[in-house]
Amino acid sequence: MSRLVMVSNRVIDFGAASQAGGVSVAIYDALARHSGFWFGWNGQVEDNEDSDPVMSRDGSHTTVTIPLTAADYNDFYLGYSNSVLWPVFHNRLDLAQFEAGYYSRYVTVNKKFAAHLAPLIEPADVIWIHDYHLFPLALELRKHGIENPIGFFLHIPVGPAQALIAIPEHREIARALSAYDLIGLQTHRDVRNLIDFLQQSVYGSLLPSGRIRACDSELDIGCFPVGIDSNDFATSTVERDSESSETSRIIGIDRLDYTKGLPQKFRAFGQFLEEFPEHRRRIVLSQFAPPTRESVEAYADIRSELESLSGAINGRFGELDWVPINYIHRPIPRRELRDVYRSSRVCWVTPLMDGMNLVSKEYVASQDPEDPGVLVLSKFAGAAEQLSDGVLVNPYDRNDMVQGLRRALEMPIDERVARHDKLASVVCQSDSNAWGSTFFNALVKAGKRRTGRG
Ligand code: G6P
Repeated sequence: MSRLVMVSNRVIDFGAASQAGGVSVAIYDALARHSGFWFGWNGQVEDNEDSDPVMSRDGSHTTVTIPLTAADYNDFYLGYSNSVLWPVFHNRLDLAQFEAGYYSRYVTVNKKFAAHLAPLIEPADVIWIHDYHLFPLALELRKHGIENPIGFFLHIPVGPAQALIAIPEHREIARALSAYDLIGLQTHRDVRNLIDFLQQSVYGSLLPSGRIRACDSELDIGCFPVGIDSNDFATSTVERDSESSETSRIIGIDRLDYTKGLPQKFRAFGQFLEEFPEHRRRIVLSQFAPPTRESVEAYADIRSELESLSGAINGRFGELDWVPINYIHRPIPRRELRDVYRSSRVCWVTPLMDGMNLVSKEYVASQDPEDPGVLVLSKFAGAAEQLSDGVLVNPYDRNDMVQGLRRALEMPIDERVARHDKLASVVCQSDSNAWGSTFFNALVKAGKRRTGRG
């Protein structure tokens, strides 16, 4: 059987970190079913341009990692990846920082990844690259003579083509994407936007076969919604707060990112308490928001905005023995996640735009099917395409957010059970196993088509 070589910017050491986010968990789960290894950045910044890759084994998983230099970290990671590509792909052109030097370092780091990875590749390997940090990696690997199937999965959403073509290097990005055999995206909307972008940027065309022709190559672009290991979450036996207990918890778990709609959530919560005083003292919003990419200005801004909003709401409504918002500025350990989900009556997920949002799937999978909590989900999360039986809300519309929360808190048990049954069956069917194997099989096929061996 072919080895699977996973590549992403961030590689998580599962021995040490119990707080890994969705992307790394999805990669980790997929690798559990294949031989192979996971290649990427070890999370360290070192001033040595030529550090050799370090291989380490943890049970059935092998990782091969390299450090980044300070210049890589600033211009490739914080710069081009997170101050250009991240905001633009999330349709936040207003936050993009097109600084000189970012793009060339972005390409340099991709070349460095390719130079370290190419010697480790064997002829039967299947290479699967993840996320926006590594768009140029297939092109760079091909320069090293690598002929293996190379697939790409984008975990973040694809904004409208009009936003993408504002990137000064959009043609280079389009050319880099065209070098893959298969590109996987989270939603049908993302597929439409990416095809549109390739058409506008490099005159790509949609062939009758459904494949795309761009920059002298042909590739497949498809929708492969990422899933979770649902069995892993179904093991909690914690009892939920009963109807008669003092307070019900509303849970939010998001990286502290401006795409997550956190100010909108806090403001809607304040308005909810204002309009429905009968709910005061009976609910608490527990919002975990671990910091991330803090040296990027937009992230520092969102942090202070939220601190002041939560302070204002707690100051206005709080009492000696009740604080309405429990705002926790650190990650929740993975081992505690399922119990926290299961004991929360509502999960409130409000991104302005999100690739998938695995928190919403984890919450569903953790519920007691006989007394499930309610998912309130932004219609702009990728997950909303699949989880339409949640209470869908528009995070830009505060009244809609307030009514969505009210509906969730007051929902009768029959409706909760009926919605949960449908949500749970989607989450189980399109789990991480289905995601990994569907993409892998499609990639093998796409690779054969390119080499004419299919
Ligand atoms: C998102 C991205 C991932 C990234 C993660 C954490 O989920 O899609 O590629 O690893 O955020 O962000 P960080 O910048 O800490 O790696």
